[in-house]
Formats: sequence, C-alpha cells, structure tokens
Amino acid sequence: MLVVVKKNHEEVSREGVRVVAGLLREKPSCTLGLATGSTPLLLYRELIRMYEEEGLDLSKVTTFNLDEYIGLPPSHPQSYHYFMYEHLFRHVNIPERFIHIPSGMVDVNDIQRIHRFCEWYEKRIVECGGIDLQLLGVGANGHIGFNEPGSSLGSRTRIKTLSQKTREDNSRFFDDDMEKVPRYAITMGIGTILDSRMLLLLASGENKAEAIRDTVEGAVTAQVPASIVQMHRRAVLIVDEEAGSLLSGKYDQFLTELQ
Ligand code: F6R
Repeated sequence: MLVVVKKNHEEVSREGVRVVAGLLREKPSCTLGLATGSTPLLLYRELIRMYEEEGLDLSKVTTFNLDEYIGLPPSHPQSYHYFMYEHLFRHVNIPERFIHIPSGMVDVNDIQRIHRFCEWYEKRIVECGGIDLQLLGVGANGHIGFNEPGSSLGSRTRIKTLSQKTREDNSRFFDDDMEKVPRYAITMGIGTILDSRMLLLLASGENKAEAIRDTVEGAVTAQVPASIVQMHRRAVLIVDEEAGSLLSGKYDQFLTELQ
C-alpha cells in the first residue's frame, strides 16, 4: 500500500488523474471501476479536459460503477446514473455499450430479480477481463462503495441497507430531508473490489481524517471496510493534509513508484 499526502483536494485530484491517465495511455482498452460523490469530481473534470484538449482517447474503455441507490430512476438528479453522465460520460467518448452502472430500478421486495442482476453484474466484470483500476472514495464511517461497517470482507455485488450515518451524510443532496434519502443500494462487494488489479483511493477534508487513520493504521476489519486496502497488492491512497491529519506515520509526497 502506498500512501501519498498532498496539500489539498485539488492536488489530490491532480495526482489521481495522473494515475488514471497513465493507465489509459498504457492500456487504452482498460476497464475502470468508477465512484461517485464529491471526491472524484475534480478528477473527472480533469479527464474531460484531457479528452478535449490533449486528445486523451476513451473510446476503448469499459467502465463499471461501484453502486447505485435503489428506487431512483436514471433521470433523478441524485441517482448515480445521472451523476456519471453529468460529470463524465456525456463529455467524453466512452461508448454507451461499455458503460455499466448497477440498476436502481428494481423492487426491493423482488429479491430474486436483484440477485439475478447482481450475478449478471459480477459475470459481466469477469467477461470484460476484470477491473484494471478501481477508483474509490471513503465514507466518514469507513465505507467503500456502499459496503457499510460490518459488511463481509468477501462480499460480492448485492443489495445493502444504508447505515443511518451514511443516510445522514448524504441527506445534504436530498434537501436535508431524511425521508427522501433512499434506504437501500446495490453495491459491488468488498470481495469484488479486492479483485481489481489496482485500487486508487482518494480522500480529502477533515471529516475523513478518522476514516483514513483507521484505514491506514488500524486493523483490517469489517468495521472499517476501507481497511481492506491494506490487503491489496497494488493499492494507492492519495489523501490531503486534512484527511491525513490523524496519521502518525510519515508518508510520501510523491507517487514515485508509479511514475
Ligand atoms: C460513491 C461511493 C461512496 C463514496 C463515499 C465518499 O460511488 O461509493 O463510497 O465514495 O461515500 O463520498 P464523498 O466523495 O461524497 O465524500
């Protein structure tokens, strides 16, 4: 695991996009695992700029998103479908058929159908050669994807009940109205994430400091799902000074090993 501490969110994003763009140039037909939320926003913006101004080609890229809320149609501004098209897909040349996002349009009571969908998603990842690089943000409670604390470390894509903490954290996107915040999501599992050939976890802001301390220096535990990065052979964490403020060790400032 390589931990890099940068000054702020902008620098974290800039360093992160270097890793992603490096992979895209080295393997234009790579498979990317993508995340939503505020963490990757600048990274996506920079990818769009590179596509527009530097001729970065994404026409052979396949993508798999980590998660989606159940109950929100793709047209809902808070759905992760909407987010991805708004902040990345409609600005670059990834073919529609290479884009995969879990479907939120399933009935929570139709467990058979949800299982079938999740199995298909897992199979599709394998058919596409596996994920080369999985981009991750981390929840203030240590979640990755919607794998909340207590998620099994071997879990695969499945339905999850969102924790109270995550629903509270995300209520800011739903007019601060907890009633509007979905209760369930479909998420890649921790085992699915671990199968990726490389993990790139980004974090910024002091509300992530405890999660980052526990992720990097704590025990590997289902109580902090992000701590599984410690078990991955190729995990890179890029955090800003605020998110890294509770780390006691000394960490790199440069991604020297990957340059
Ligand atoms: C989003 C996702 C979540 C977020 C995490 C951090 O697809 O999987 O795990 O990465 O909740 O969210 P932000 O970036 O908004 O702080």
